[in-house]
Amino acid sequence: MLNALQKIKEQAAQTLANAQDSKALDELRVKYLGKKGELTTILKQMGSLSAEERPKVGQLANEVRASIESLIAEKNAALKAAMLDKRLELETIDVTMPGKAAPLGHAHPLSKVLEELKEIFMGMGFSVVEGPEVELDYYNFEALNIPKNHPARDTQDTFYINDNVLLRTQTSPVQIRAMEKQKPPIRIISPGRVYRSDAVDATHSPLFHQIEGLVVDKGVTMGDLKGTLEQFVKRLYGDHSVVRFRPHHFPFTEPSAELDVQCFSCGGKGCRLCKGEGWIEILGCGMVHPKVLSICGIDPEIYSGFAFGMGLERIVMRRYNIDDMRLFFENDVRFLNQF
Ligand code: PHE
Repeated sequence: MLNALQKIKEQAAQTLANAQDSKALDELRVKYLGKKGELTTILKQMGSLSAEERPKVGQLANEVRASIESLIAEKNAALKAAMLDKRLELETIDVTMPGKAAPLGHAHPLSKVLEELKEIFMGMGFSVVEGPEVELDYYNFEALNIPKNHPARDTQDTFYINDNVLLRTQTSPVQIRAMEKQKPPIRIISPGRVYRSDAVDATHSPLFHQIEGLVVDKGVTMGDLKGTLEQFVKRLYGDHSVVRFRPHHFPFTEPSAELDVQCFSCGGKGCRLCKGEGWIEILGCGMVHPKVLSICGIDPEIYSGFAFGMGLERIVMRRYNIDDMRLFFENDVRFLNQF
């Protein structure tokens, strides 16, 4: 029996030393020390021993158990340390590897061109002011000489918050706000979002952008209007640009006109871009109506002024040959990346 114990001890030392992982180690623990393990099996037979032999066998059995237990503990610690080493190795971060580049965005095509337009007007001494998009009926219509039931309201139907509050249909209300706040000389442009209850298609959107301009001072004439806007078009489309002013009607300007530029694609012969017209409409303009000046507390006998307004989307579409306005608002990066 003593021999058998000795053999278990030797065998255990060897097999434990070879255990590859904690699962194998656990199996060995059961094999030697478990309820049905080899050591237990021998201890169960101790009853058959003489009183003399029993303490000796008992002592050796205890020694063998202690020795196996300590071997298991050692091996366990060694396996854990090895596992940690392996994990540390696997999770090593190589700080010299190249990083993932964060994709950098850029300004939206509408913003890019708007910046350019602002630069042109700022270079002419205009300052940039903004007004609210949620506007009073008074500023959007009434003070611009468009009373309730005026037919001009039909083409500018919009979203009403209540009877007196609406989403502005044009940037022209900023003219009124500017003239109320500031006495002449006034020289401002006002870019911003405007809204109309139009159905979405390739050339219409319920939300789009306009840029308003207003100049008020003593002795401002139609000549100033024409010179300023012609200069603007030349800065935008080149010095060779040809413009024409075509009579039009706006309730808040008198006289009123639309400014066309000769088609820069066909030189006026007529093509797809100008729809065979030879001319491309750029903006609406006119001399500020005396009634509008009076409403804002500016004496039309002393002061005069001109105003103009243009749609940003159309200018950008022509600039980049974009044929569908919806692309501006869908935020598809495949589209936006091209500018
Ligand atoms: N607000 C006008 C429009 O939306 C454009 C305009 C502005 C015309 C200023 C004349 C003067 O149609």
